[in-house]
Amino acid sequence: MKKIKIPIEQNTYDVYLGCDIFDQLFKIAEKLKLNKNIMMIPDEKFYNIRKAEIDHLIKTYHGKLNIHVIQATEKLKSFYTLQKIFTELLNKEYTRDTLLVALGGGIIGDIVGFAASIFSRGVQYVQVPTTLLAAVDSSVGGKTGINFGNTKNIIGAFKQPKFVLIDSDFLDTLPKKEIISGLGEVIKYAYLTNQNFYNYILSNVDNILEKKKDVLEKIIEESVRFKGDVVANDEKESGTRKMLNLGHTFAHAFEVEQNYKIKHGHAVIIGIACALFLSNKLNLLNDKKLNSLLELLIQVKGLIKISDVDYKKSISIMKRDKKNRDGKIKFVLLKDIGGILIDVEASDRDIKYALKMGLSIFR
Ligand SMILES: NC(=O)c1ccc[n+]([C@@H]2O[C@H](COP(=O)([O-])OP(=O)(O)OC[C@H]3O[C@@H](n4cnc5c(N)ncnc54)[C@H](O)[C@@H]3O)[C@@H](O)[C@H]2O)c1
Repeated sequence: MKKIKIPIEQNTYDVYLGCDIFDQLFKIAEKLKLNKNIMMIPDEKFYNIRKAEIDHLIKTYHGKLNIHVIQATEKLKSFYTLQKIFTELLNKEYTRDTLLVALGGGIIGDIVGFAASIFSRGVQYVQVPTTLLAAVDSSVGGKTGINFGNTKNIIGAFKQPKFVLIDSDFLDTLPKKEIISGLGEVIKYAYLTNQNFYNYILSNVDNILEKKKDVLEKIIEESVRFKGDVVANDEKESGTRKMLNLGHTFAHAFEVEQNYKIKHGHAVIIGIACALFLSNKLNLLNDKKLNSLLELLIQVKGLIKISDVDYKKSISIMKRDKKNRDGKIKFVLLKDIGGILIDVEASDRDIKYALKMGLSIFR
């Protein structure tokens, strides 16, 4: 089992990564002297798949432990689900000495982390990601929240977990479309990190889709290390952390415009294409560089489907993005792999151009 430190000031924690390590969950919690009153909140589909294993582990626990299963959908990443969690916590007489365990993908992690940030003015929680997307991205960094009134993640808080446990075995049952969704965030890191990682992803797309364990573990480790460094330097996203939003301003607009029929990571892949075209339009990226950087996206384009997008509606959704300042949409753009520009503004005309060109790749 590997241990990766996330050195956030006053909130340092470890990410444990390995194969078949789920049974370490309570041992690590005990070693860290975490609260003993546990509410485990698993994703319904994952729970149904792994019920025997989860129930078996629960039986080995000697303290107070209840389980509250929830459904993971963007529509249910909402106050409704939060309310159900709080009702259950109160019915079972949990107070401030609680440890919540988020056992699922990014939706579960975001909701449970947010619940932990406000229940009893804040309780401990741990992240046990079960999707590739959650393993490489959402389980680390402490961004938690819910969707509200057609805006993604608009209600939320920064709340770091006490630890993260990534069991790569959990990915065995993940459907292909969810692997592709995780690949979306991995592709984001390919553009943000360096040429070596970009080349590695470029030559391993098929291995990722086939869930080759060594490849998955390598990309999870690299992504977690990179994200850990970024968030350790800027926990609350006042500067450099914004880079992690590459492609996301477009992606969130697609998710809302398509009424959540497109998966987050799929939308991120298209969003990155739009960001590259916008970078080119604003003369940050010349035509030659643009074409070379599009290679990875072109390799995966056949995996992504999106229906017709209303550009005007998408731009108006982007105008509600929480990263905006003074009513201006702020983009993360690129001048090269690892050459990242944050808070770039653009005219509606240029954004529309980027939407048209980015989407044209996936037609
Ligand atoms: N907090 C952050 O920093 C951050 C970063 C990126 C994305 N996100 C958020 O993460 C969410 C997307 O996360 P996601 O892609 O993990 O989606 P998800 O939580 O919806 O999980 C995807 C699907 O996989 C199923 N599932 C989960 N684990 C499984 C397993 N092991 N085997 C089979 N099926 C399984 C779930 O039931 C669900 O249907 C979005 O809401 C996005 O906004 C948050």
